[in-house]
Amino acid sequence: KHISIIGVPMDLGQSRRGVDMGPSAIRYAGVVERLEELEYKIHDRGDIEIGRPGKDEHVLASDGNLKFLSAVSKASEKLASAVDEVIEEGSFPLVFGGDHSIAIGTLAGVSKHYKNLGVIWYDAHGDLNTADTSPSGNIHGMPLAVSLGIGHPTLTNIAGYTPKVKPENIVIIGARSLDEGERVLIREKGIKVYTMHEIDRLGMTKVMEEAIDYLKNKTDGVHLSLDLDGLDPSDAPGVGTPVLGGISYRESHLAMEILEESKIITSAEFVEVNPILDHGNSTATVAVALMGSLFGEKLL
Ligand code: ARG
Ligand code: MN
Ligand code: MN
Ligand code: MN
Repeated sequence: KHISIIGVPMDLGQSRRGVDMGPSAIRYAGVVERLEELEYKIHDRGDIEIGRPGKDEHVLASDGNLKFLSAVSKASEKLASAVDEVIEEGSFPLVFGGDHSIAIGTLAGVSKHYKNLGVIWYDAHGDLNTADTSPSGNIHGMPLAVSLGIGHPTLTNIAGYTPKVKPENIVIIGARSLDEGERVLIREKGIKVYTMHEIDRLGMTKVMEEAIDYLKNKTDGVHLSLDLDGLDPSDAPGVGTPVLGGISYRESHLAMEILEESKIITSAEFVEVNPILDHGNSTATVAVALMGSLFGEKLL
């Protein structure tokens, strides 16, 4: 079994610097050693090169309410090709962010290999904004909409096709901060969402079992997009857009273990680790621990 790591030091999808150091922080937290223990062959492909916008571009690089549109789309194209290559090689793509805008590129590289790709979006947010609905203009709040084919054509057409995912193949887990336009889209498209209310009420076991049942028979692969801000800020403080009342460390381990048992996950990304905002390197350490569970670490 082979896992190929791709780092994406992208911080232009949002406005707090430092998340570009996420891939280094995750490596420094010992991810390669940890996964090698599980008898995986790990190939770390290093980081995708992200163009730094010039001074003027800070003003010019936005297209309407889309900050750094050109830099984000260039990075997405590169990431899509790298992910595509990894899958062609028969390896499991494991992508480290970087802000969540990178999911645009990851899904562009993954989805062409599947007829019906499922997506588990583990996040405090829906990331279902468009330039018209976004309160911030930050592209990291848009990647799920983009992958549905909704948004600026430069983004929706990354890797030359759209859409990447169908609304009925998406499950959002951990939502507790949604903008009005995102609520409208969720209702309109009938996207399955487990908010914190359902997680509290049903428990994580039931939520994950339902999510897996929901996706299992209609998909031929499932991508896990895990935004560390899905966890409670007390467990994952190093994120740019923390929201109180999140999923606990323990519930997250449980979720990863249940996913591992289900054998449905075919690609994954861990995003929004910002070591500058972190306490020590605790958020990257949590990310690595969760990857341990996702890839089959067992106590006994
Ligand atoms: N909904 C807000 C926005 O669109 C926050 C998005 C946060 N997204 C994230 N990947 N952390 O600006
Ligand atoms: Mn291919
Ligand atoms: Mn988020
Ligand atoms: Mn997100």
